[in-house]
Amino acid sequence: MDGERKNIRNRFGDDSVHSTIYTDRELFDAEMKKLFYDGWVFVGHESEVPKPNNYITRMIGREPVIMVRTREGNISVVSNRCAHRGNMLCHQHSGSSRSFSCEYHGWTFSHEGDLVGVPLPGGSHKDSSCLGLQKPAMQAGHRGFVFITFNPDAGPLDDHLGKAKDLIDRSVSLSPTGKIKLSAGWLKQRFRCNWKMLPENSTDGYHAPFTHASFLRVFAPDSQYKMLSESEDERKSKTVDWGNGHVALEHAPSYEEPLQWLGTTKEKVPDYVESMKEAYGEEEAMRKLVDGPPHSTVFPNLFLGEMNIAIFEPVSVDECVLWHTPMLLDGVSDKLNARILRQSQAAMGPASFLLADDAIISERQQVATGGRGGWMDLSRGRKREEKREDGTIWGHISDETTNRGFWSHYREVMQA
Ligand code: FES
Ligand SMILES: [Fe+2]
Repeated sequence: MDGERKNIRNRFGDDSVHSTIYTDRELFDAEMKKLFYDGWVFVGHESEVPKPNNYITRMIGREPVIMVRTREGNISVVSNRCAHRGNMLCHQHSGSSRSFSCEYHGWTFSHEGDLVGVPLPGGSHKDSSCLGLQKPAMQAGHRGFVFITFNPDAGPLDDHLGKAKDLIDRSVSLSPTGKIKLSAGWLKQRFRCNWKMLPENSTDGYHAPFTHASFLRVFAPDSQYKMLSESEDERKSKTVDWGNGHVALEHAPSYEEPLQWLGTTKEKVPDYVESMKEAYGEEEAMRKLVDGPPHSTVFPNLFLGEMNIAIFEPVSVDECVLWHTPMLLDGVSDKLNARILRQSQAAMGPASFLLADDAIISERQQVATGGRGGWMDLSRGRKREEKREDGTIWGHISDETTNRGFWSHYREVMQA
């Protein structure tokens, strides 16, 4: 255990991280255990399984799971591995099924994971209650976002989420009913890089004018991406370390008018503005409509990417998958949701430059750090960031406050 701690300690320097943190296979295995099995991890949103029998499949680290809405309407998460001899039970991303039957020898499990059927039962002598599917040690949710941990001692989800609860609240409260719908389907993009480059890059406010120069030239002039390329003193957006590895780019200070973040105005979507006023009162509704959605990682694998929800899925030490789907709003017109869908496609869809630019940089980083490696500097803005009374740290939008926040929590968990 001391060796493991030293192993982690040696990878951190003076506001710097050693590049072997991206390339060490043993460290990847340790991350799966400490971050993905022993910590709280996002699985899916309740709106993805709207009706009884609906299920989705996900990877939690390297562990396949099924999230299903039971016949009673509850959300159940079970291992997607047959308790007989380990076959994967569901191999589709989503579907609907009254139970889970294994295609190898036909054992059948309930939504809660109980073994309810064994073909040719004459040969079975074990108590079937010992042969159910594995389940997480704890499952909890916030505003429809479902999280699990395999660690009975992980503590309450609320403690892990901390200020990230406010960020989730801010996302869902862009709906007048306070509900979102992840119903458009997921796009997945494979990155040939270590998974940690996804949360790092997603809240890096420094790279946009360089990595995304061509994208910025053709994108709308008042978009948040454009704001990232103003001169250093002009930029009002901030980087924020919310604690517990949850880090964000905060664009609200850059917005002056309602709905700038959606590239529209309140005059163009009067029904939406009216329903927000009815739901939250004029002042609160206007504040929500000016500030817009968060742009924040919820440690370790969820990303509230403005009007997109994304998942960071590790595959191996040098491969990962970014899942993303538009965050559609309940209680608004189909036309507004169509706009959100189109904006999501423009920013993150397969024909967008944005993820392709980031994927190329990440892949080059992975190649360049694959040899002897070296130290990577994360000191930018350390001398000018502001630590507030509530413990949050606020930096200039181009500062590495977010990277330091991610790594400091990573180090704490990995060394525990
Ligand atoms: S592996 Fe599933 S029934 Fe045998
Ligand atoms: Fe980027």
